[in-house]
Amino acid sequence: MKKLTAPDEILYHVGFSASSLKGAKWALLPGDPGRVEGLANACGQAEFIGCHREYTSWLTSIGCERVLVCSTGMGGPSVAICLEELACMGIEGVIRVGTTGGIQEKINFGDVIINKAAVRLDGTSHHYAPESFPAVASFTVTEALMQAALELQIPHHVGISVSSDTFWPGQERYDSFTGYVRKAFQGTMKEWQVLGALNYEMETAALFVAAQCMGIKAGSVCGVIARRTESEQVAPADIYKLAEERFQKVVYRALQILLKAGV
Ligand code: URA
Repeated sequence: MKKLTAPDEILYHVGFSASSLKGAKWALLPGDPGRVEGLANACGQAEFIGCHREYTSWLTSIGCERVLVCSTGMGGPSVAICLEELACMGIEGVIRVGTTGGIQEKINFGDVIINKAAVRLDGTSHHYAPESFPAVASFTVTEALMQAALELQIPHHVGISVSSDTFWPGQERYDSFTGYVRKAFQGTMKEWQVLGALNYEMETAALFVAAQCMGIKAGSVCGVIARRTESEQVAPADIYKLAEERFQKVVYRALQILLKAGV
C-alpha cells in the first residue's frame, strides 16, 4: 500500500510538508541547490518553500498549474531520498535537470542531452530493483522533452546516459587526487562510446529505477559542460550559462506540453 503523508507533516529530509505544494503534481529536480531559484523564476511566479540539507525548494507555476522545483544534491542516494518524500506528498511526475559530460565526438558544449535510459553504474538503483531491471525514462516525458527541443531549435541528442556514483573513477577520469582509476574502470569510456552511450552524469539511473518502482513518471535532460572526447575538465562559466539557459527553456516547454495534455 502506498503511503501518503498528512498535509502538515514536515518530511524529515526535504524539510517541508505537502501543504507547501499547493496541489503541485510535477517536480523539476536540478542537482545544484544554486540552480533552483533561477529555474523556478524561468518558469513563472516563484515562491521560496524552504532549504534543508541539499534540498532547496521553490514553488513555481506553469499556466495555472503549480510545479515544485527541488534540488537533489549529487548522486543517487540523495535523489532517491528526495523522490521517496516527494512521492509521499503526492508528486506524480519528475524531470531531472542537470549537467553532464558528453562522450561522443558529435556532442558539443552547451548541447542538450535527453536521456531515454541509463546504464546503472550506481549503487542506489540496485537497492530498488535487481541488476537485470532496466533504468528507463517515461516515454511521454521523453517525447515532450524531444518535442520541446525540436520546437525551440536547441541542439540536442537523445540516448543513453552512463550514471556513475563517482565523478572520477567511475567516469574514467585520471585527474583526481591519486590519479588512479581501478582496473575495472580502465578502458570503460571507450566501451560506452562503442556501445553508443552519449554521456556521463550521476543521478539518472537512480531516478529512473526508483521512479519506476514508485509508479512515478520520470524524464531527464542535461546540458553539456564537459567534452570527454577532448578533455577531462569541465568548461568555463560561460558554457555553463549557455547550457543552463537551454535546459531551462527545454524543460519549461516540455512541462507546458505535458500539463496541456493532462499527463
Ligand atoms: N557531471 C558529471 O557527472 N560528469 C561530467 O563530466 C559533467 C557533469
